[in-house]
Amino acid sequence: MDNVNQANFWQQRYESDSIGWDMGEVSPPLKAYIDQLPNGAKHDAILVPGAGNAYEVGYLYEQGFTNVTLVDFAPAPITDFAKRYPDFPKDQLVCADFFELSPNQYKFDWILEQTFFCAINPQRRDEYVQQMARLLKPKGKLVGLLFDRDFSGNQPPFGGHLEEYQQRFETHFAIEIMQPCYNSHPARQGSELFIKLRAK
Ligand SMILES: C[S@@+](CC[C@H](N)C(=O)[O-])C[C@H]1O[C@@H](n2cnc3c(N)ncnc32)[C@H](O)[C@@H]1O
Repeated sequence: MDNVNQANFWQQRYESDSIGWDMGEVSPPLKAYIDQLPNGAKHDAILVPGAGNAYEVGYLYEQGFTNVTLVDFAPAPITDFAKRYPDFPKDQLVCADFFELSPNQYKFDWILEQTFFCAINPQRRDEYVQQMARLLKPKGKLVGLLFDRDFSGNQPPFGGHLEEYQQRFETHFAIEIMQPCYNSHPARQGSELFIKLRAK
């Protein structure tokens, strides 16, 4: 399971097109969330970690959000994104390990979670919570989707449930929303929680 911590594990999946998690479009609940944001949010500093093919980053960019940072440690999807969005600022395309991002360099108003939490080794979940809190400005938000189901096997995706998430996240976040998602993509209907967590 340690190989999921390695960029090469993911890079090989992109190279062999074994990307079963990829929806090929912006996640409907995240699109709905983005669509209701006020115009004043268009210059928020936003991070999408473990972004992969980054449909959410593309959508934010298309809607006029100017300060979106894409992070992934596999180079293949970033190269592909840069081809699809040649005008996207290159300094906002970051090929790096999320856990090694320095809060001295990066601080965000909000962070978008989309099938990144489920991709990391479950033993690193507390580290994920701490790193998310470190990368947010005071009272910044972690918004997105978490699976509310189990998966078999010791390869990603790794599942989980509301009670576990509540316990882990409330150490560093006030839980404003953590509830079953009503507008999931049909393939994920009934298996996702929508979250909006505020850094303490
Ligand atoms: C399951 S994929 C999800 C991609 C995308 N969010 C989506 O929904 O299509 C997980 C992504 O996280 C990236 N990833 C995993 N661990 C990472 C880490 N520690 N730092 C940066 N990226 C990571 C992988 O390279 C992969 O692109």
